[in-house]
Formats: sequence, C-alpha cells, structure tokens
Amino acid sequence: MQIAVLASGTGTILAALINAKLPIAEVVVDRHCGAEKIAEHANVPVKCIERRDFSPSFDRANYTRKLLEYLEASSVDVIVLAGFGTVLGPEMSDRFAGRILNTHPALLPAYKGWHAVRDALADGASVTGCTVHLVTAEVDEGPILAQEAVPVFPDDTEEILHERIKEVERRLYPATIWAFLDEATKKGGTT
Ligand code: GRF
Repeated sequence: MQIAVLASGTGTILAALINAKLPIAEVVVDRHCGAEKIAEHANVPVKCIERRDFSPSFDRANYTRKLLEYLEASSVDVIVLAGFGTVLGPEMSDRFAGRILNTHPALLPAYKGWHAVRDALADGASVTGCTVHLVTAEVDEGPILAQEAVPVFPDDTEEILHERIKEVERRLYPATIWAFLDEATKKGGTT
C-alpha cells in the first residue's frame, strides 16, 4: 500500500506521518509551503500542483482533474490529507472511494469547515478535539474512524488551541492510518 499525502500548511502533521514510518510514496502541495520543505528534507518526492486562483471563480473541477491525473500516473493506493487547503471536486472521492483520509481539528459533526478552531472558540465551547474520517463528496461528512477530545481553556487563542489539538492529531492520525492500512491489507488478502 502506497500513500500520497496532500498538504498546504506548515506540515507538522506531515512530519508526524513521516516519523511514524508510514509508506509515503509522495507528497503533493497546492502552494509553496512548509510541508514542501519538510518532504524535501525527509527525501520524500514532492510535487507542487500550484493553485493560483483563490477567487470565487476558481475552476475546482479542472484543478481536481489535474491532481487526479498526477495521482493516477503515480499509482498510489491511499490519499491522506494533512491540512490540504483546497476542497476537491467529487471526481476525487469517486475515484478513490473509501481510500481518502482526513484529520479535522474539531469533534465532527461539530465545527465543520476551514475555521473549526476559531468557530469552537467563538462558540464558547469548553471541549473540542480532532476527528479522523474518510473523505466523501460532502466536506467533513465522511465516516468517522477516530476522535479524541481536547479541552478549551478560558485564555486560549486560536493559535494556542490549534496547537493543543495538533499535538493530539500528530499521535492519533498516524495510528489511525496504520490501522486503516492493516485492515485494508487483510481484506485485500482474503478476497
Ligand atoms: C491540522 O490541524 C489539520 O487538522 C488541519 O490543518 C492542520 C494542519 O497542520 N486540516 P500542519 O500544517 O500540518 O501543522
């Protein structure tokens, strides 16, 4: 089983996946970012399929197609999102149905979307957390594989709270991906 990791941010989750010795064949980023440097440093092949348009008229279908073409040519089995900042079109979850994983910094179904940490704070939540789930066509809606709660403290900023959540994600996500791969390998061996 070979994994492609998709990332856009500082890449600390990617670093945890690399440290966990997951079979990462490659990393794809949608912009030049810290994750790209982390992959380079770890000698993991990294490709930037740059998204230049962040306007409402962004051609999501076309971007998704380009990414899919690249991933299909590199014959990976599982896609792991690690802070990937582009919502992909349904072609992606159709092609890799049941084989795309994501980590989200909230206890889904609470606080879906890109500002999950900010939204939990604004809501006055005393507990939030993280969720590892399968990706389907609907954003942050797929079947949940693992969750863990994280406390919110009264003087938390978005940055402090997000870092507390990421500490858990860096442990929970690799462990959940390993369990997913083991299960997929077992199933593959019996059918
Ligand atoms: C993580 O909190 C992940 O849940 C979210 O983006 C963050 C990525 O963090 N989708 P980093 O860039 O790997 O540090």
